Amino acid sequence: MSETRGTATFRTSAEAYDRHIGRYGPALARALIEATNVSAGQRALDVGCGPGALTAVLSEALGADRVTAIDPSEPFVEACARRLPGVDVRAGSAEALPFPDHSFDVTLAQLAVNFMRDPPAGVGEMRRVTRPGGAVAAAVWDYAGEMTLLRRFWDAAVSIDPDAADRDEGRSMPYCTPEELEGLWRDAGLREPAVSALVVDAEYGGFDELWYSLEHGSGPSTAYAVSLPPEPRARLRDELRRGLGVGEDPFRLTARAWAVVGTVP
Ligand SMILES: C[S@@+](CC[C@H](N)C(=O)[O-])C[C@H]1O[C@@H](n2cnc3c(N)ncnc32)[C@H](O)[C@@H]1O
Repeated sequence: MSETRGTATFRTSAEAYDRHIGRYGPALARALIEATNVSAGQRALDVGCGPGALTAVLSEALGADRVTAIDPSEPFVEACARRLPGVDVRAGSAEALPFPDHSFDVTLAQLAVNFMRDPPAGVGEMRRVTRPGGAVAAAVWDYAGEMTLLRRFWDAAVSIDPDAADRDEGRSMPYCTPEELEGLWRDAGLREPAVSALVVDAEYGGFDELWYSLEHGSGPSTAYAVSLPPEPRARLRDELRRGLGVGEDPFRLTARAWAVVGTVP
């Protein structure tokens, strides 16, 4: 498995994550819980919670004492627990969830399935811990298409360094198309998987802010950018700005994720 999947790439501070991809997290979380029909009274599990974007929205909707969250990244677990007192936040991986069968009404994973070491095992565990009739849901970026920031970033990277094609998340990430997600859900025995597009956006004060967030962020795009020496890194920066067609005025970027929701038989 590539170093940019799994947990290594997320052993960073929550603040680094928040300023880059985490900027889209709260809006995506609201869209995901709507697509999943999360409703008052339910008990929810957030798998691959990171610093807690989805956990926070679940906590607002259900109450902190009805929400459990889990992630293998120690700094993220610590940040999520600190930010959301009352939520049961655990360190651990999707592939071995430390919960009895049928513990939750709804189990969700936001932007995490494609980072799992073994996604079929992880989704199988999500199903196991959810009660019959409950929902298992996930959202994954449309890396190959309309996640604007990452698509333009990898296009710029490949234009200055053809070898970056192997690291392009649009090619390297598994389970980032509707067909793959639907198949993953069906293979896990989840009934009637429904895939939909969730489109959110995020605001930037200008291109300098975007570039700082990326260079001081976390995840595969940051790992690639900071691996470059100064001269190609400056060319990447220029190419990205050109590709986005933005300057120092504030702007918004849209990002599309695919959501999949299935029912436990
Ligand atoms: C892109 S972040 C998403 C974090 C958060 N859900 C959000 O929406 O902001 C991906 C998360 O998946 C976690 N992760 C990686 N491998 C995992 C695994 N095997 N099981 C559960 N989570 C995993 C990472 O530690 C990281 O927190």
